[in-house]
Amino acid sequence: MKKNILLLCIIVAGFLITSSCMNNQQEKFSGNQKSNKTLMQIKREIFGTVNDTVPIYLYTLINENDMVVKLTNYGGIVTSILVPDNKHNFDDIVLGFDSLNNYLTGHPYFGAIVGRYANRIANGKFTLEGKEYTLAANNGKNHLHGGIKGFDKVVWDSKDYVDKDSVSVSLFYLSQDGEEGYPGNLSVKVIYTLTNDNELKIKYEAHTDQPTPVNLTHHSYFNLAGAGSGDILDHILMIDADMYTPVDETLIPTGELKKVKNTEMDFTTPHNIGSRIKEVEGGYDHNYVLNNGGKMAKVAELYEPHTGRVMEVFTTEPGMQFYSGNFLDGSITGKNRKIYQKHYGLCLETQHFPDSPNKPGFPSVILYPENTYGYTTIYKFSTR
Ligand code: BGC
Repeated sequence: MKKNILLLCIIVAGFLITSSCMNNQQEKFSGNQKSNKTLMQIKREIFGTVNDTVPIYLYTLINENDMVVKLTNYGGIVTSILVPDNKHNFDDIVLGFDSLNNYLTGHPYFGAIVGRYANRIANGKFTLEGKEYTLAANNGKNHLHGGIKGFDKVVWDSKDYVDKDSVSVSLFYLSQDGEEGYPGNLSVKVIYTLTNDNELKIKYEAHTDQPTPVNLTHHSYFNLAGAGSGDILDHILMIDADMYTPVDETLIPTGELKKVKNTEMDFTTPHNIGSRIKEVEGGYDHNYVLNNGGKMAKVAELYEPHTGRVMEVFTTEPGMQFYSGNFLDGSITGKNRKIYQKHYGLCLETQHFPDSPNKPGFPSVILYPENTYGYTTIYKFSTR
């Protein structure tokens, strides 16, 4: 008996020493230390490689409330967000995968940074300063989310740092002149920050050497009851928008701004998403014209009644795509072998309006060399 216990102790000690050595080789930790408690920390580990050579990192950001955000420099993808419910049980509330390989083999933009142009450009064409540009038609005849290899599929340079009340990862990418058909060299910086107020802040910045359209967003599929646990139809949503941009059958805006009042599109007061979704052909996949007047303001609130989880969205952007996961169809198996069926996640993508390069009446999306593109969106989590 004693011999067995001794043997067990040796095995456990051996395991602990080996795993701590592995951590030292593969991972880097940094954090803020107050008394004996680690408050905020950030961990970097190898997530895998692209083309068998380029290392891809997985960053784990933890705040002093134990909220966790995991993200990778492949596509700037947020792979996990762990937040408590009103009984302090933590769940991962974004759809995604456990391994890098799944992200490499194709998926509907789970958690990604989308660019150079989020959403659609009609027929993959636009004219700028007298010249016509042709982009990939990767969504029927239209161009979607930056093309065949958009910013969701590129390797970003990355740097992590810890501040007094937050932890951040900065991502950098240089999109070459002509990439995916767009003009100009565009240097892009995206900073993901987790704060002690349970906010995930995303700050976007870009510069160009030629006029070019730019419209960046973040594409997490949220399910506040937990990723893979069911659909989002009983989530309660508020969107502070009196108007939206109606679309044609290929989801290109008609150019009109339409009032939401007295229609199934109206979320100005909190509404159960499922209650009117059948009245919307195909489900919600629309750009809302936000009432924020270009100022940082709360533009949406999502509430899940069973867990009490709340997510508020703040932005300066003029629009937000509300996409109710209509094209999820059970063909994707995500984290923890959960199958993602229709409406299992929803996206709230802050943005300029779809097809703006072809819609002179919409706010301009053209970035000029003398200007800086930039905005911030905050997803803030709490319970009720
Ligand atoms: C779009 C959907 C599209 C989805 C891609 C959303 O941003 O609005 O139409 O199917 O992204 O997964």
